[in-house]
Amino acid sequence: MASAMKFLYYNQPKKTLSRTMTTSQSTHLEDFKVRFRRSGSLGIPFVPEEDMRVLKRELAIEEVDEGMTLLTVIVKTVRAKGGISETIEALPKMIVIKHLETRDSKQSSSELDLLIEMELHGRLTNQEAIEEMKKNGLQVQEVSSTIAPSVQPKFIEPGTNEEEKKTWSVIYKTLRELHLKYACQEFLDNFEELERHCGYSENNIPQLEDISRFLKAKTGFRVRPVAGYLSARDFLAGLAFRVFFCTQYVRHSANPFYTPEPDTVHELMGHMALFADPDFAQFSQEIGLASLGASEEDLSKLATLYFFSIEFGLSCDSHADKLDSRLKYKVYGAGLLSSAEELRHAIEGSPSIYRFDPDRVVEQECLITTFQSAYFYTRNFEEAQSKLRMFTSSMKRPFVVRYDAYTECIQVLNNKQNLFLAINALRSDINLLAGALHYVL
Ligand SMILES: [Fe+2]
Repeated sequence: MASAMKFLYYNQPKKTLSRTMTTSQSTHLEDFKVRFRRSGSLGIPFVPEEDMRVLKRELAIEEVDEGMTLLTVIVKTVRAKGGISETIEALPKMIVIKHLETRDSKQSSSELDLLIEMELHGRLTNQEAIEEMKKNGLQVQEVSSTIAPSVQPKFIEPGTNEEEKKTWSVIYKTLRELHLKYACQEFLDNFEELERHCGYSENNIPQLEDISRFLKAKTGFRVRPVAGYLSARDFLAGLAFRVFFCTQYVRHSANPFYTPEPDTVHELMGHMALFADPDFAQFSQEIGLASLGASEEDLSKLATLYFFSIEFGLSCDSHADKLDSRLKYKVYGAGLLSSAEELRHAIEGSPSIYRFDPDRVVEQECLITTFQSAYFYTRNFEEAQSKLRMFTSSMKRPFVVRYDAYTECIQVLNNKQNLFLAINALRSDINLLAGALHYVL
């Protein structure tokens, strides 16, 4: 496959790529692809907006209807009476305020920070809007700028479109047969539970809400729908909170076994089952926790580890005949379990298969447009977890964090009180476990 890992923008410029490009254009494009692979490797369609603009400009790709620009800024305002209304007066005329809120200023108690989200009308660009605000005496700082589509998509209840249901059904039948042959036992057991409790069947596309409720009860994992692009950092940060971001659209019916982007089939058929497994859930969360505060370089390594485990990982089949070296592997990676062709390629083809060793894994290139040339296997999730811990403990980070399952928050262990609280909770758990051990042994 890698199909679920490819992205629309990567494939789209086909006709423009055949044009003659200058050396600098082609170098830029190559550089773009490399960086794109990195972020795309997570199964997250993330391309920085500015990169897309530069690339489109260089390749002379016409921008289609861009929709409305939404600009978010922070403006310094005096706390005194009339301060906010004077600030609003000084905003450009061709805007509509969509959201406004005040925050205490960190610099001065006599000031407020005004967060304003505005729609820009009359072809006003964000640079022009900001310049106008500055000209009107405002102290302004841009927070973000996004484009809202000009045509509102028609809402269709997820899972009710007949064509999508047909596509789902075709893939479901094929993949389930392959799962029985190639998937690891943990995946198979939990998939059956999804069929029992979450409406998984070839005639029904399950609802994210049902799956989320089921996973929450099993391991505390939740799924959240995402409509837009996420950066690798945002995506991995979600895992730290036991949150998995899911796309919600079904691939095009013309080609049910190919998708340029990770779609709902990839998420539901490939990812969901294993988030109900406690060891796998823990392993996934630990990648997320390690990403918090990680440097860009370390983040990229974590993304590669995610790619070759959660997306393309293999495990050992304890029942297999050890003489046949290839069939001793089972699959747990969602990228494989949602792709009939790459699944066969990984197990029955002749890719290189190495032991999951993080120092080796981070050297491997994540391939987006073709099948992987190498895969990595682990004996079990526990082993992968301890290797990951060894690897991440050498990463330099500005702080140490711990997930508090009661409050579902991340605690930064940077003061005595938090440390003592964490140690206390641990001490209580160890006492309980020691007591239980006494009864069991
Ligand atoms: Fe994925």
